[in-house]
Amino acid sequence: MDIQAPTKTAPLATIAEIGKHDGQSVTLRGWLYNLRESGKLLFPIFRDGTGTIQGVVPKSAVSPEVFDAVKHLTQESSVIVTGKVRADKRAPGGYELDVSDVQVVQRVPDSEPFPISLKEHGVDFLMEHRHLWMRTPRQAAILRTRAEIIKAARDFFDERGFTLTDPPILTPAACEGTSTLFPVDYFDDQAYLTQSGQLYIEATAMALGKVYSFGPTFRAEKSKTRRHLTEFWMVEPEVAYATLDDLMHLAEEFITFIVTRCLEKRRADLKTIERDVSKLENIKPPFPRITYDEAVEILHKGHAEGKLETKFERGGDFGSPDETYISSQFDRPVMVHRYPAAVKAFYMEPDPQRPELALCVDVLAPEGYGEIIGGSQRMGSYELLLKRIHEHGLPESAFKWYLDLRKFGGVPHSGFGMGIERAVAWICGLEHVRETIPFPRMLHRIYP
Ligand code: 4AD
Ligand code: MG
Repeated sequence: MDIQAPTKTAPLATIAEIGKHDGQSVTLRGWLYNLRESGKLLFPIFRDGTGTIQGVVPKSAVSPEVFDAVKHLTQESSVIVTGKVRADKRAPGGYELDVSDVQVVQRVPDSEPFPISLKEHGVDFLMEHRHLWMRTPRQAAILRTRAEIIKAARDFFDERGFTLTDPPILTPAACEGTSTLFPVDYFDDQAYLTQSGQLYIEATAMALGKVYSFGPTFRAEKSKTRRHLTEFWMVEPEVAYATLDDLMHLAEEFITFIVTRCLEKRRADLKTIERDVSKLENIKPPFPRITYDEAVEILHKGHAEGKLETKFERGGDFGSPDETYISSQFDRPVMVHRYPAAVKAFYMEPDPQRPELALCVDVLAPEGYGEIIGGSQRMGSYELLLKRIHEHGLPESAFKWYLDLRKFGGVPHSGFGMGIERAVAWICGLEHVRETIPFPRMLHRIYP
């Protein structure tokens, strides 16, 4: 394939930054997104990964070869285009390109056109073609927003004196319950893909004070909800000497920081995604804090008013519809704290006032998005932790090192985990987490 410099020399530019070149000739390297024709005028829309721009090609203004090449371009053919940038108020990005030259890098043949046309496709078809679907402006905008959210999360912690510490992905035991483990044959031993880096960053927090991890985590979730992936990315802070209250404060600052950053830097993408940003502009601390008991009251009231079909049974964990209902009562994330210890993980510190409750918090995103953050104060007592490990049927031998943390200078400490995909789904206002990650892994999906 011949991808030499274009015949006419002009500086390389990207569509996102095209405004810097108003009135100048530039060269763009990208693909044809769409082509309209109107008599002796061609209107190709090009994309380059940073955005899209409409080109204008009047037959009278270019050579017959250039006109012909554009006229016969097929969707997603790769092209190197030279043209003059012209501000135009009606153009979606504010600029158009008066094309002077085009070099076709690879023309998609008519015999096998690009499978994702501009008409509607079913979800199964799109998922099967995820590798191509992601080229559409909406999907690209979501992926850019995801990258911004990840960068914002890391900036937040980096700027506040947290040290990034990477936990292992291959682990000998469960962190979040034994029913969602992915087993891996580790030579002659049984290992598992990590469900969370938490246990390991509790150790690094005792070494470094304030730490965080960011990496892939795995859950063999048999659920087919719009919130569950089997492989997802989690950002987890862990703080020595922090209590549950400190943690809730950290969580609201963190979420606000990320949302503010997206509004600042990804407004154009949020517009492409058709996100109602006024909902995001509400997101400012303090976030409402309610207890599990108060959340149950909300559910019971909802049931009495006929808004919820089944009556929630106090003592259980909230399902997705319960979380959706609770979160829909607030215009910003709501922090639900102190769940019954029985429905939560083994490592949570009991509430000294009511030991049947855990010092934990779930942050539920507004607009019905449900849980985006789960966290807690960690158990301090060696004896109680050992007892919980046994009660949860976990192998004591695999947790010896974790118990050590309660023997050698144990301190109160707390942390939380935020699933990146849940945050992206909420901030972008998406129906389903499958669009929040380049290649989603779900119950019945491991291709492409
Ligand atoms: O509430 P979870 O299970 O908490 C933990 O893993 C703790 N160890 C975190 C910690 O305290 N350091 O998961 C945390 C978050 C959830 O709130 C959700 O955003 C996301 O991880 N999450 C999932 N995201 C997509 N698909 C799944 N199957 C998820 N399970 C959890
Ligand atoms: Mg949780």
